[in-house]
Amino acid sequence: MSTHSHWMQNLPTHNPLNKDLIADAVVVGAGIAGLSTAYQLVKAGLSVVVLERDQIGSGETPRSSAQVTASLDFLYQELVTIHGREATRLIYQSHTAAIAEMERMVQTEQLDCDFRRVSGHLVPAPGDDATVQKEASVHRGLGFDTRLSTPPAWVKGFAESLEYPQQGQVDPLQYLLGLAKAIEKHGGLIYGSSPVLSYTGDHVVTEQGHTVHANHVVITTNAVVSEHGKYSFRLTPYRTYMVSLKLTEQIEPVLFYDTSDPYFYVRPDGDMLLVGGADHRTGEPADPKERWQTIESWARAHFPVGERLEQWSGQVFNSADGIAFLGKTGDIYVITGDTGNGLTHATIGSMIIRDQVLGQENPWIEVYRPDRFPRGNYRAWIKDAGRSIGHVFDWFKKSAEVQNLQPGQGCIVRQGLSKCAVHRDEKGELHAVGAMCTHLGCEVSWNGAEHTWDCPCHGSRFASDGTVLTGPARAPLAKLEHPEKLELK
Ligand SMILES: Cc1cc2nc3c(=O)[nH]c(=O)nc-3n(C[C@H](O)[C@H](O)[C@H](O)COP(=O)(O)OP(=O)(O)OC[C@H]3O[C@@H](n4cnc5c(N)ncnc54)[C@H](O)[C@@H]3O)c2cc1C
Ligand code: FES
Repeated sequence: MSTHSHWMQNLPTHNPLNKDLIADAVVVGAGIAGLSTAYQLVKAGLSVVVLERDQIGSGETPRSSAQVTASLDFLYQELVTIHGREATRLIYQSHTAAIAEMERMVQTEQLDCDFRRVSGHLVPAPGDDATVQKEASVHRGLGFDTRLSTPPAWVKGFAESLEYPQQGQVDPLQYLLGLAKAIEKHGGLIYGSSPVLSYTGDHVVTEQGHTVHANHVVITTNAVVSEHGKYSFRLTPYRTYMVSLKLTEQIEPVLFYDTSDPYFYVRPDGDMLLVGGADHRTGEPADPKERWQTIESWARAHFPVGERLEQWSGQVFNSADGIAFLGKTGDIYVITGDTGNGLTHATIGSMIIRDQVLGQENPWIEVYRPDRFPRGNYRAWIKDAGRSIGHVFDWFKKSAEVQNLQPGQGCIVRQGLSKCAVHRDEKGELHAVGAMCTHLGCEVSWNGAEHTWDCPCHGSRFASDGTVLTGPARAPLAKLEHPEKLELK
Protein backbone atom coordinates (compact mmCIF):
# COMPACT_ATOMS: atom_id res chain seq x y z
CA MET A 1 0.00 0.00 0.00
CA SER A 2 1.55 3.32 -1.01
CA THR A 3 0.96 6.68 0.62
CA HIS A 4 0.57 9.90 -1.28
CA SER A 5 -0.50 13.21 0.18
CA HIS A 6 -3.33 14.79 -1.77
CA TRP A 7 -1.32 17.97 -2.42
CA MET A 8 2.10 16.63 -3.34
CA GLN A 9 3.51 17.06 -6.85
CA ASN A 10 6.84 17.70 -8.58
CA LEU A 11 8.09 21.15 -7.67
CA PRO A 12 10.61 23.67 -8.91
CA THR A 13 13.85 23.33 -6.95
CA HIS A 14 16.09 25.93 -5.29
CA ASN A 15 19.90 25.71 -5.52
CA PRO A 16 22.06 25.13 -2.44
CA LEU A 17 23.88 27.99 -0.74
CA ASN A 18 27.44 28.01 -2.13
CA LYS A 19 28.98 31.03 -0.37
CA ASP A 20 28.88 32.95 2.91
CA LEU A 21 26.25 35.71 3.23
CA ILE A 22 25.28 38.60 5.49
CA ALA A 23 21.59 39.46 5.96
CA ASP A 24 19.29 41.16 8.45
CA ALA A 25 17.52 37.85 9.12
CA VAL A 26 18.11 34.19 8.35
CA VAL A 27 15.18 31.76 8.47
CA VAL A 28 15.87 28.02 8.78
CA GLY A 29 13.17 25.78 7.24
CA ALA A 30 10.84 26.52 4.32
CA GLY A 31 7.50 25.16 5.53
CA ILE A 32 4.59 27.48 6.26
CA ALA A 33 6.26 28.78 9.44
CA GLY A 34 9.52 29.70 7.71
CA LEU A 35 8.02 31.18 4.55
CA SER A 36 5.33 33.15 6.43
CA THR A 37 8.02 34.66 8.67
CA ALA A 38 10.37 35.38 5.76
CA TYR A 39 7.48 37.08 3.94
CA GLN A 40 6.61 39.29 6.93
CA LEU A 41 10.26 40.30 7.32
CA VAL A 42 10.97 41.10 3.64
CA LYS A 43 7.75 43.11 3.51
CA ALA A 44 9.03 45.08 6.53
CA GLY A 45 12.11 45.98 4.49
CA LEU A 46 14.67 43.51 5.91
CA SER A 47 17.13 41.50 3.84
CA VAL A 48 16.20 37.85 4.41
CA VAL A 49 17.84 34.49 3.58
CA VAL A 50 15.84 31.24 3.84
CA LEU A 51 17.76 27.96 4.17
CA GLU A 52 15.86 24.71 3.55
CA ARG A 53 17.29 21.24 4.23
CA ASP A 54 15.56 19.66 1.22
CA GLN A 55 13.17 21.65 -0.96
CA ILE A 56 10.02 23.67 -0.36
CA GLY A 57 7.21 21.28 0.54
CA SER A 58 9.35 18.50 1.97
CA GLY A 59 8.05 18.91 5.54
CA GLU A 60 4.62 18.44 7.09
CA THR A 61 2.85 21.40 5.46
CA PRO A 62 1.79 19.54 2.28
CA ARG A 63 0.58 16.60 4.40
CA SER A 64 -1.94 18.87 6.10
CA SER A 65 -5.72 18.86 5.64
CA ALA A 66 -5.16 22.64 5.47
CA GLN A 67 -8.17 23.77 7.42
CA VAL A 68 -7.44 27.36 8.40
CA THR A 69 -9.45 27.64 11.55
CA ALA A 70 -9.82 29.02 15.05
CA SER A 71 -11.35 25.69 16.15
CA LEU A 72 -8.39 24.17 17.96
CA ASP A 73 -7.25 20.72 18.99
CA PHE A 74 -8.10 21.64 22.60
CA LEU A 75 -11.67 22.84 23.16
CA TYR A 76 -11.93 26.39 24.49
CA GLN A 77 -13.54 25.02 27.69
CA GLU A 78 -10.18 23.29 28.34
CA LEU A 79 -8.15 26.35 27.35
CA VAL A 80 -10.06 28.56 29.82
CA THR A 81 -9.16 26.15 32.63
CA ILE A 82 -5.50 26.09 31.57
CA HIS A 83 -4.85 29.69 30.53
CA GLY A 84 -7.68 31.73 32.10
CA ARG A 85 -10.34 33.82 30.36
CA GLU A 86 -8.28 36.77 29.11
CA ALA A 87 -5.53 34.61 27.59
CA THR A 88 -8.17 32.36 26.00
CA ARG A 89 -9.77 35.40 24.37
CA LEU A 90 -6.34 36.33 22.97
CA ILE A 91 -5.85 32.77 21.66
CA TYR A 92 -9.19 32.89 19.78
CA GLN A 93 -8.49 36.43 18.58
CA SER A 94 -4.99 35.47 17.32
CA HIS A 95 -6.25 32.47 15.31
CA THR A 96 -9.06 34.58 13.84
CA ALA A 97 -6.50 37.26 12.94
CA ALA A 98 -4.27 34.59 11.34
CA ILE A 99 -7.09 33.54 9.01
CA ALA A 100 -7.54 37.20 7.99
CA GLU A 101 -3.78 37.65 7.56
CA MET A 102 -3.53 34.62 5.26
CA GLU A 103 -6.45 35.95 3.22
CA ARG A 104 -4.80 39.39 3.05
CA MET A 105 -1.51 37.88 1.83
CA VAL A 106 -3.34 35.77 -0.77
CA GLN A 107 -5.10 38.88 -2.08
CA THR A 108 -2.09 41.24 -1.92
CA GLU A 109 0.29 38.82 -3.65
CA GLN A 110 -2.42 37.19 -5.79
CA LEU A 111 -1.42 33.73 -4.58
CA ASP A 112 -3.06 31.06 -6.73
CA CYS A 113 -3.80 28.60 -3.90
CA ASP A 114 -7.58 28.17 -3.78
CA PHE A 115 -7.89 29.99 -0.44
CA ARG A 116 -11.53 30.37 0.43
CA ARG A 117 -13.66 31.28 3.41
CA VAL A 118 -15.86 28.43 4.64
CA SER A 119 -17.86 27.59 7.76
CA GLY A 120 -16.52 25.10 10.30
CA HIS A 121 -18.77 22.85 12.39
CA LEU A 122 -17.81 21.24 15.70
CA VAL A 123 -20.03 18.13 15.88
CA PRO A 124 -20.51 15.77 18.84
CA ALA A 125 -18.99 12.31 19.13
CA PRO A 126 -21.78 9.74 19.80
CA GLY A 127 -23.55 10.68 23.05
CA ASP A 128 -21.39 13.76 23.57
CA ASP A 129 -23.95 16.51 22.80
CA ALA A 130 -23.37 18.02 26.25
CA THR A 131 -19.76 18.88 25.34
CA VAL A 132 -20.88 20.89 22.31
CA GLN A 133 -23.54 22.66 24.41
CA LYS A 134 -20.95 23.49 27.09
CA GLU A 135 -18.48 24.68 24.46
CA ALA A 136 -21.17 26.98 22.98
CA SER A 137 -21.86 28.42 26.40
CA VAL A 138 -18.12 29.06 27.04
CA HIS A 139 -17.87 30.78 23.62
CA ARG A 140 -20.91 32.96 24.42
CA GLY A 141 -19.34 33.98 27.72
CA LEU A 142 -16.12 34.96 25.97
CA GLY A 143 -17.91 36.83 23.19
CA PHE A 144 -16.74 34.59 20.31
CA ASP A 145 -18.35 34.84 16.87
CA THR A 146 -19.78 31.26 16.88
CA ARG A 147 -23.33 29.86 17.18
CA LEU A 148 -25.28 26.65 17.72
CA SER A 149 -26.46 25.55 14.31
CA THR A 150 -27.81 22.66 12.22
CA PRO A 151 -25.23 20.98 9.95
CA PRO A 152 -26.07 20.87 6.21
CA ALA A 153 -28.74 18.31 5.18
CA TRP A 154 -26.22 16.07 3.33
CA VAL A 155 -24.40 15.30 6.60
CA LYS A 156 -25.92 12.38 8.52
CA GLY A 157 -25.94 11.68 12.25
CA PHE A 158 -25.44 15.11 13.82
CA ALA A 159 -28.53 16.96 15.04
CA GLU A 160 -26.65 20.04 16.18
CA SER A 161 -23.23 21.63 15.76
CA LEU A 162 -21.27 24.62 16.99
CA GLU A 163 -20.66 26.68 13.86
CA TYR A 164 -17.56 28.81 13.34
CA PRO A 165 -18.40 31.18 10.45
CA GLN A 166 -15.72 32.65 8.15
CA GLN A 167 -12.99 30.02 8.61
CA GLY A 168 -10.70 29.12 5.70
CA GLN A 169 -9.27 26.32 3.59
CA VAL A 170 -6.33 26.40 1.22
CA ASP A 171 -4.11 24.26 -1.03
CA PRO A 172 -1.09 24.23 1.31
CA LEU A 173 1.53 23.42 -1.30
CA GLN A 174 0.37 26.13 -3.72
CA TYR A 175 0.28 28.55 -0.77
CA LEU A 176 3.95 27.73 -0.01
CA LEU A 177 4.96 28.11 -3.66
CA GLY A 178 3.12 31.43 -3.89
CA LEU A 179 4.76 32.71 -0.71
CA ALA A 180 8.21 31.67 -2.00
CA LYS A 181 7.65 33.65 -5.22
CA ALA A 182 6.45 36.66 -3.23
CA ILE A 183 9.51 36.52 -0.95
CA GLU A 184 11.83 36.43 -3.97
CA LYS A 185 9.88 39.22 -5.67
CA HIS A 186 10.49 41.42 -2.59
CA GLY A 187 14.24 40.65 -2.57
CA GLY A 188 14.47 37.61 -0.27
CA LEU A 189 16.82 34.72 -1.11
CA ILE A 190 15.80 31.06 -0.80
CA TYR A 191 18.24 28.13 -0.88
CA GLY A 192 17.30 24.44 -1.05
CA SER A 193 19.45 21.39 -0.19
CA SER A 194 21.14 23.49 2.51
CA PRO A 195 20.70 21.75 5.87
CA VAL A 196 21.66 23.92 8.83
CA LEU A 197 23.84 22.02 11.27
CA SER A 198 24.48 24.65 13.92
CA TYR A 199 23.33 28.12 14.89
CA THR A 200 23.65 30.85 17.47
CA GLY A 201 21.92 34.22 17.80
CA ASP A 202 24.01 35.85 15.08
CA HIS A 203 24.81 33.18 12.49
CA VAL A 204 23.96 29.73 11.11
CA VAL A 205 26.25 27.20 9.45
CA THR A 206 25.14 24.77 6.75
CA GLU A 207 26.26 21.18 6.24
CA GLN A 208 28.32 22.38 3.25
CA GLY A 209 30.20 24.70 5.63
CA HIS A 210 28.74 28.06 4.53
CA THR A 211 27.79 30.69 7.09
CA VAL A 212 24.98 33.23 7.04
CA HIS A 213 25.59 36.07 9.51
CA ALA A 214 22.40 37.84 10.59
CA ASN A 215 21.04 40.02 13.38
CA HIS A 216 18.00 37.77 13.66
CA VAL A 217 18.08 33.94 13.51
CA VAL A 218 14.68 32.26 13.12
CA ILE A 219 14.34 28.48 13.56
CA THR A 220 11.22 27.10 11.85
CA THR A 221 12.17 23.46 11.34
CA ASN A 222 8.86 22.19 12.86
CA ALA A 223 10.64 20.24 15.63
CA VAL A 224 13.44 22.59 16.68
CA VAL A 225 16.73 20.98 15.63
CA SER A 226 19.70 20.98 17.97
CA GLU A 227 17.73 22.21 20.95
CA HIS A 228 19.39 20.21 23.72
CA GLY A 229 16.04 18.95 25.01
CA LYS A 230 14.51 22.40 25.57
CA TYR A 231 11.36 21.68 23.53
CA SER A 232 11.47 17.92 23.20
CA PHE A 233 10.50 17.53 26.86
CA ARG A 234 7.55 19.89 26.42
CA LEU A 235 6.14 18.44 23.20
CA THR A 236 4.61 15.04 22.40
CA PRO A 237 4.83 13.75 18.81
CA TYR A 238 1.71 12.14 17.31
CA ARG A 239 1.10 10.40 13.99
CA THR A 240 -2.16 11.39 12.34
CA TYR A 241 -3.77 9.67 9.33
CA MET A 242 -5.72 10.91 6.31
CA VAL A 243 -7.70 9.49 3.41
CA SER A 244 -9.30 11.17 0.42
CA LEU A 245 -12.68 9.79 -0.71
CA LYS A 246 -14.66 10.49 -3.88
CA LEU A 247 -17.78 12.53 -3.17
CA THR A 248 -20.97 11.01 -4.59
CA GLU A 249 -22.92 14.28 -4.32
CA GLN A 250 -22.03 17.87 -4.94
CA ILE A 251 -21.66 19.65 -1.62
CA GLU A 252 -20.73 23.15 -0.55
CA PRO A 253 -17.29 23.42 1.09
CA VAL A 254 -17.64 23.17 4.86
CA LEU A 255 -15.14 22.02 7.52
CA PHE A 256 -15.96 19.52 10.27
CA TYR A 257 -14.26 18.44 13.48
CA ASP A 258 -15.79 16.19 16.11
CA THR A 259 -15.36 15.97 19.89
CA SER A 260 -13.94 12.43 20.04
CA ASP A 261 -10.40 11.84 21.28
CA PRO A 262 -8.54 11.46 18.96
CA TYR A 263 -10.88 13.57 16.89
CA PHE A 264 -11.88 13.27 13.23
CA TYR A 265 -11.44 16.26 10.90
CA VAL A 266 -12.94 16.82 7.45
CA ARG A 267 -12.55 19.21 4.55
CA PRO A 268 -13.70 18.99 0.94
CA ASP A 269 -11.53 19.69 -2.09
CA GLY A 270 -13.51 19.77 -5.37
CA ASP A 271 -15.11 16.35 -5.82
CA MET A 272 -13.16 14.78 -2.95
CA LEU A 273 -13.54 14.73 0.79
CA LEU A 274 -10.32 14.69 2.84
CA VAL A 275 -10.84 13.05 6.22
CA GLY A 276 -8.29 12.66 9.00
CA GLY A 277 -7.87 11.35 12.52
CA ALA A 278 -7.00 8.07 14.32
CA ASP A 279 -3.91 9.71 15.89
CA HIS A 280 -1.47 7.84 18.13
CA ARG A 281 1.84 8.61 19.73
CA THR A 282 4.72 8.41 17.27
CA GLY A 283 6.69 5.16 17.41
CA GLU A 284 4.04 3.23 19.34
CA PRO A 285 2.51 0.12 17.75
CA ALA A 286 -0.26 0.77 15.22
CA ASP A 287 -1.51 -0.91 12.06
CA PRO A 288 -1.81 1.92 9.49
CA LYS A 289 -4.36 -0.05 7.42
CA GLU A 290 -6.64 -0.23 10.46
CA ARG A 291 -6.18 3.50 11.12
CA TRP A 292 -7.17 4.42 7.54
CA GLN A 293 -10.10 1.98 7.70
CA THR A 294 -11.34 3.54 10.97
CA ILE A 295 -11.36 6.97 9.32
CA GLU A 296 -13.05 5.70 6.17
CA SER A 297 -15.79 3.89 8.13
CA TRP A 298 -16.49 7.00 10.21
CA ALA A 299 -16.66 9.13 7.04
CA ARG A 300 -19.05 6.66 5.33
CA ALA A 301 -21.41 6.85 8.30
CA HIS A 302 -21.77 10.63 7.95
CA PHE A 303 -20.90 11.85 4.43
CA PRO A 304 -21.89 11.01 0.83
CA VAL A 305 -18.63 9.33 -0.23
CA GLY A 306 -17.59 6.54 -2.61
CA GLU A 307 -14.20 4.94 -3.28
CA ARG A 308 -11.01 5.77 -1.41
CA LEU A 309 -8.49 7.53 -3.67
CA GLU A 310 -5.46 8.33 -1.48
CA GLN A 311 -4.10 7.68 1.99
CA TRP A 312 -1.21 9.16 3.87
CA SER A 313 -0.03 10.09 7.35
CA GLY A 314 1.94 12.88 8.99
CA GLN A 315 3.20 14.15 12.30
CA VAL A 316 2.10 16.83 14.71
CA PHE A 317 3.81 18.01 17.89
CA ASN A 318 1.38 18.61 20.76
CA SER A 319 2.07 20.90 23.68
CA ALA A 320 0.48 20.03 27.03
CA ASP A 321 -1.29 23.41 27.25
CA GLY A 322 -2.83 23.31 23.77
CA ILE A 323 -0.97 26.15 22.04
CA ALA A 324 2.31 26.54 20.18
CA PHE A 325 5.65 28.04 21.30
CA LEU A 326 6.15 31.22 19.27
CA GLY A 327 8.58 34.12 19.31
CA LYS A 328 11.88 35.14 20.81
CA THR A 329 13.69 32.90 23.28
CA GLY A 330 17.19 33.89 24.36
CA ASP A 331 18.89 35.24 21.24
CA ILE A 332 16.92 33.28 18.62
CA TYR A 333 13.29 33.12 17.43
CA VAL A 334 11.27 29.87 17.10
CA ILE A 335 7.94 28.57 15.84
CA THR A 336 7.24 25.06 17.15
CA GLY A 337 4.60 22.90 18.86
CA ASP A 338 1.83 23.19 16.24
CA THR A 339 -0.62 21.05 18.27
CA GLY A 340 -2.55 20.19 15.09
CA ASN A 341 -3.17 23.83 14.14
CA GLY A 342 0.12 24.53 12.43
CA LEU A 343 -1.16 26.81 9.66
CA THR A 344 -2.69 29.39 11.97
CA HIS A 345 -0.01 28.96 14.64
CA ALA A 346 2.69 29.53 11.97
CA THR A 347 0.95 32.69 10.80
CA ILE A 348 0.53 34.00 14.36
CA GLY A 349 4.22 33.18 14.99
CA SER A 350 5.27 35.08 11.87
CA MET A 351 3.40 38.20 13.04
CA ILE A 352 4.83 37.94 16.58
CA ILE A 353 8.40 37.55 15.24
CA ARG A 354 7.94 40.45 12.79
CA ASP A 355 6.83 42.69 15.65
CA GLN A 356 9.63 41.54 17.97
CA VAL A 357 12.24 42.14 15.24
CA LEU A 358 10.81 45.60 14.55
CA GLY A 359 10.47 46.43 18.26
CA GLN A 360 6.69 46.78 17.93
CA GLU A 361 4.05 45.78 20.46
CA ASN A 362 2.08 42.60 19.92
CA PRO A 363 -0.75 41.46 22.23
CA TRP A 364 0.01 37.73 21.81
CA ILE A 365 3.71 37.66 22.82
CA GLU A 366 3.11 36.67 26.46
CA VAL A 367 0.50 33.98 25.71
CA TYR A 368 2.75 32.08 23.27
CA ARG A 369 6.08 32.79 25.04
CA PRO A 370 8.40 29.93 23.91
CA ASP A 371 10.26 29.65 27.22
CA ARG A 372 7.08 29.06 29.27
CA PHE A 373 6.47 25.79 31.06
CA PRO A 374 3.20 24.25 29.91
CA ARG A 375 0.58 26.12 31.90
CA GLY A 376 -1.90 24.40 34.17
CA ASN A 377 -2.08 20.98 32.58
CA TYR A 378 0.86 19.58 34.60
CA ARG A 379 -0.63 16.13 35.03
CA ALA A 380 -0.89 15.57 31.26
CA TRP A 381 2.58 16.97 30.74
CA ILE A 382 4.18 14.72 33.39
CA LYS A 383 2.28 11.70 31.99
CA ASP A 384 3.55 12.41 28.44
CA ALA A 385 7.12 13.04 29.62
CA GLY A 386 6.92 9.80 31.67
CA ARG A 387 5.86 7.85 28.59
CA SER A 388 8.89 9.23 26.73
CA ILE A 389 11.22 8.25 29.55
CA GLY A 390 9.58 4.78 29.68
CA HIS A 391 10.69 4.20 26.09
CA VAL A 392 14.31 4.23 27.23
CA PHE A 393 13.58 0.70 28.55
CA ASP A 394 12.59 -0.48 25.05
CA TRP A 395 16.26 -1.34 24.81
CA PHE A 396 15.60 -4.44 26.95
CA LYS A 397 12.76 -5.65 24.73
CA LYS A 398 13.09 -9.03 22.99
CA SER A 399 14.81 -9.14 19.63
CA ALA A 400 12.73 -10.03 16.54
CA GLU A 401 13.60 -12.69 13.92
CA VAL A 402 14.83 -11.28 10.59
CA GLN A 403 13.71 -14.50 8.85
CA ASN A 404 10.05 -13.61 9.56
CA LEU A 405 10.34 -10.16 8.02
CA GLN A 406 8.03 -9.68 4.99
CA PRO A 407 8.68 -7.11 2.20
CA GLY A 408 7.74 -3.64 3.46
CA GLN A 409 8.26 -4.61 7.12
CA GLY A 410 10.92 -3.61 9.64
CA CYS A 411 12.03 -4.96 13.02
CA ILE A 412 14.62 -4.47 15.74
CA VAL A 413 17.27 -7.18 16.11
CA ARG A 414 19.79 -7.56 18.93
CA GLN A 415 23.41 -8.06 17.92
CA GLY A 416 25.58 -8.58 20.97
CA LEU A 417 25.23 -5.47 23.13
CA SER A 418 23.83 -3.30 20.35
CA LYS A 419 20.62 -3.38 18.33
CA CYS A 420 19.97 -2.99 14.60
CA ALA A 421 16.91 -1.60 12.85
CA VAL A 422 16.32 -3.97 9.91
CA HIS A 423 13.97 -3.36 7.00
CA ARG A 424 13.12 -5.63 4.04
CA ASP A 425 12.31 -3.61 0.93
CA GLU A 426 9.67 -4.51 -1.65
CA LYS A 427 12.29 -6.40 -3.71
CA GLY A 428 13.13 -8.57 -0.67
CA GLU A 429 16.53 -6.96 0.05
CA LEU A 430 17.52 -6.26 3.65
CA HIS A 431 18.76 -2.87 4.90
CA ALA A 432 20.10 -2.27 8.41
CA VAL A 433 20.87 0.86 10.44
CA GLY A 434 21.65 1.42 14.12
CA ALA A 435 18.48 1.28 16.26
CA MET A 436 19.54 4.01 18.71
CA CYS A 437 18.05 7.44 17.93
CA THR A 438 20.83 10.00 17.52
CA HIS A 439 18.92 12.61 19.57
CA LEU A 440 18.96 11.16 23.10
CA GLY A 441 19.34 7.44 22.48
CA CYS A 442 15.81 5.91 22.54
CA GLU A 443 15.09 2.89 20.36
CA VAL A 444 13.42 3.69 17.03
CA SER A 445 10.49 1.65 15.70
CA TRP A 446 9.24 0.85 12.20
CA ASN A 447 6.53 3.04 10.68
CA GLY A 448 4.73 0.68 8.30
CA ALA A 449 2.73 3.50 6.68
CA GLU A 450 5.58 5.75 5.56
CA HIS A 451 8.43 3.16 5.69
CA THR A 452 10.51 5.19 8.12
CA TRP A 453 12.18 4.63 11.48
CA ASP A 454 10.38 6.78 14.08
CA CYS A 455 11.50 7.60 17.61
CA PRO A 456 8.77 7.35 20.27
CA CYS A 457 10.56 9.68 22.69
CA HIS A 458 10.55 13.07 20.93
CA GLY A 459 9.44 12.29 17.37
CA SER A 460 12.67 12.24 15.35
CA ARG A 461 12.15 10.32 12.12
CA PHE A 462 14.65 8.68 9.79
CA ALA A 463 14.38 7.30 6.24
CA SER A 464 14.98 3.55 5.86
CA ASP A 465 18.63 4.33 4.99
CA GLY A 466 19.01 6.29 8.26
CA THR A 467 18.82 9.85 6.80
CA VAL A 468 17.16 12.37 9.17
CA LEU A 469 13.65 13.34 8.03
CA THR A 470 12.39 15.10 11.17
CA GLY A 471 14.26 16.56 14.14
CA PRO A 472 15.10 17.12 16.89
CA ALA A 473 17.81 14.60 15.81
CA ARG A 474 20.45 16.06 13.51
CA ALA A 475 22.70 13.07 12.78
CA PRO A 476 21.60 10.06 10.69
CA LEU A 477 21.28 6.52 12.06
CA ALA A 478 24.52 4.60 11.45
CA LYS A 479 24.35 2.51 8.28
CA LEU A 480 25.27 -1.17 8.89
CA GLU A 481 26.96 -3.27 6.22
CA HIS A 482 25.99 -6.82 5.23
CA PRO A 483 22.49 -6.99 6.77
CA GLU A 484 22.00 -10.35 5.00
CA LYS A 485 24.29 -11.92 7.62
CA LEU A 486 21.62 -11.18 10.26
CA GLU A 487 19.30 -13.53 8.42
CA LEU A 488 21.73 -16.43 8.71
CA LYS A 489 21.94 -16.30 12.52
C1 LIG B 1 -2.21 14.92 8.42
C2 LIG B 1 -2.08 16.31 8.96
C3 LIG B 1 -3.17 17.17 8.94
C4 LIG B 1 -3.03 18.47 9.42
N1 LIG B 1 -4.10 19.31 9.32
C5 LIG B 1 -3.97 20.60 9.70
C6 LIG B 1 -5.04 21.52 9.49
O1 LIG B 1 -6.10 21.17 8.95
N2 LIG B 1 -4.86 22.81 9.89
C7 LIG B 1 -3.70 23.22 10.48
O2 LIG B 1 -3.59 24.41 10.84
N3 LIG B 1 -2.66 22.39 10.67
C8 LIG B 1 -2.77 21.09 10.28
N4 LIG B 1 -1.72 20.23 10.44
C9 LIG B 1 -0.49 20.73 11.03
C10 LIG B 1 0.30 21.55 10.03
O3 LIG B 1 0.25 20.98 8.75
C11 LIG B 1 1.76 21.64 10.47
O4 LIG B 1 1.82 21.98 11.82
C12 LIG B 1 2.50 22.71 9.71
O5 LIG B 1 2.40 22.48 8.33
C13 LIG B 1 3.96 22.75 10.14
O6 LIG B 1 4.60 23.74 9.41
P1 LIG B 1 6.15 24.07 9.66
O7 LIG B 1 6.53 25.10 8.72
O8 LIG B 1 6.33 24.30 11.13
O9 LIG B 1 6.87 22.67 9.39
P2 LIG B 1 7.22 21.94 8.01
O10 LIG B 1 6.18 22.14 6.98
O11 LIG B 1 7.55 20.53 8.40
O12 LIG B 1 8.52 22.70 7.53
C14 LIG B 1 9.74 22.60 8.21
C15 LIG B 1 10.84 22.66 7.17
O13 LIG B 1 12.10 22.74 7.84
C16 LIG B 1 13.02 21.99 7.07
N5 LIG B 1 14.16 21.64 7.94
C17 LIG B 1 14.20 20.72 8.94
N6 LIG B 1 15.42 20.67 9.49
C18 LIG B 1 16.18 21.58 8.83
C19 LIG B 1 17.55 21.99 8.92
N7 LIG B 1 18.38 21.45 9.81
N8 LIG B 1 18.00 22.95 8.08
C20 LIG B 1 17.18 23.52 7.15
N9 LIG B 1 15.87 23.15 7.02
C21 LIG B 1 15.38 22.20 7.85
C22 LIG B 1 12.22 20.77 6.62
O14 LIG B 1 12.83 20.12 5.51
C23 LIG B 1 10.88 21.40 6.28
O15 LIG B 1 10.78 21.78 4.93
C24 LIG B 1 -1.81 18.92 9.97
C25 LIG B 1 -0.71 18.07 9.99
C26 LIG B 1 -0.82 16.78 9.49
C27 LIG B 1 0.37 15.89 9.50
S1 FES C 1 13.81 12.01 19.39
FE1 FES C 1 14.70 12.25 21.34
S2 FES C 1 15.61 10.32 21.69
FE2 FES C 1 14.77 10.13 19.73
